[in-house]
Amino acid sequence: MKVPDGWTLACVGCGRKLHSDPGAFTCPNCGDILELLFSGRPSADELFKPKNASLRVWRYARAIPGEPSKAVTLNEGGTPLPKSVSLGRELGLPNLFFKVEGQNPTGSFKDRGMTVAVSRARESGAKVLVCASTGNTAASLAAYAARADLKAAVILPSGKVATGKLAQAIAHGARLIQVDDGFDRALELTVKAVAESDELYLMNSINPYRIEGQKTVAFEIYEQLQRVPDYVFLPVGNAGNISAVWKGFKELRDWGVTASVPRLVGVQAAGASPVAEAFERGSRKVRPWRSPETVASAIRIGNPMSWKKALRAIEGSGGRAMAVSDEEILQARRELASREGVFVENASAAPLAGLRRVKEEIGRDSTVVCILTGHGLKDKLPASWTRTRPQVATGAKELVKLLT
Ligand code: F0G
Repeated sequence: MKVPDGWTLACVGCGRKLHSDPGAFTCPNCGDILELLFSGRPSADELFKPKNASLRVWRYARAIPGEPSKAVTLNEGGTPLPKSVSLGRELGLPNLFFKVEGQNPTGSFKDRGMTVAVSRARESGAKVLVCASTGNTAASLAAYAARADLKAAVILPSGKVATGKLAQAIAHGARLIQVDDGFDRALELTVKAVAESDELYLMNSINPYRIEGQKTVAFEIYEQLQRVPDYVFLPVGNAGNISAVWKGFKELRDWGVTASVPRLVGVQAAGASPVAEAFERGSRKVRPWRSPETVASAIRIGNPMSWKKALRAIEGSGGRAMAVSDEEILQARRELASREGVFVENASAAPLAGLRRVKEEIGRDSTVVCILTGHGLKDKLPASWTRTRPQVATGAKELVKLLT
């Protein structure tokens, strides 16, 4: 299908411009991934004051490809940005905020991109929407495909997907296919399969329409804070989201809506941290890891497809990439739940774990946002947290005794 008016599809490798969406969303010239470029320059008024503010992601329709009236939507976006009540004080960062993306319709930030990409897929006449996934993309795709009355198939690393996410994909009626290997192999097979068949339509984040929806989190953060934060911490897996967040903040600056951009800090799990490794080496190339392993199954990824975009985001924003241990991730998950009242899945706790490590390098006056990407109900708790059994009360007297 023809690229929408006002938009250009360009290869991030060779720069070739395309006039229609290619299968599997890779460059027919060099095989690299693609990005959508917008030729418009919306003003703050056009971007932030549309008539229907309850549209959430689609309220930024001026700057995303697609028509709100034709969108496949569950009213995604518009997630809260509470200020920290406890951890910020402890870390010496009184202006710490949490962007709670777990409050999206299927419990993760994936819904922002899925509404745009599934709408595009339906318009293109696609029949079967497919993705490889560590779980959240599968859950989101399954829900939006159900709404669009399209078939969805999700390709999953066997035994490595959190039960809550599997339940979502099953409940929404997606076809589940397991690959006896990790996410990287699942994605490799998926991209090859889509390239070979006209009936399949790729819904991973190398589909650039997903990035256009996901970038709206940057617009929201700016609107909610009424300023550009100094730092944004977020987890990095396949590296689509850091690319999207960067695109959003960069566009705001390029359009003259804002005067600066935040430093983006991409946090990976130590056992799956090829982007952090490249950053620390000062390299402009990410070397894939063969057997990534981490308790944060959502970001258990060794060969991130959007690595070029991620390095661009880190460099362009003056940010960094870093790795944190599984223990630090679990501690941060617990702190968010027990001290802030925000329950997130393991991967989503990585930003706070990263922030804890580098807090000394951040000025006290800085405004810091941690993007908490997915809901805690999706992921099982570590066994060590569930050892305490509930006490039993058979009558009110006994209950009082237990409580006082
Ligand atoms: N946080 C959560 C909860 C995720 O599910 C993911 C990715 C990320 C962070 C990282 O985002 O890949 O764009 O760098 N989940 C994908 C999936 C891989 O299949 O659900 P990324």
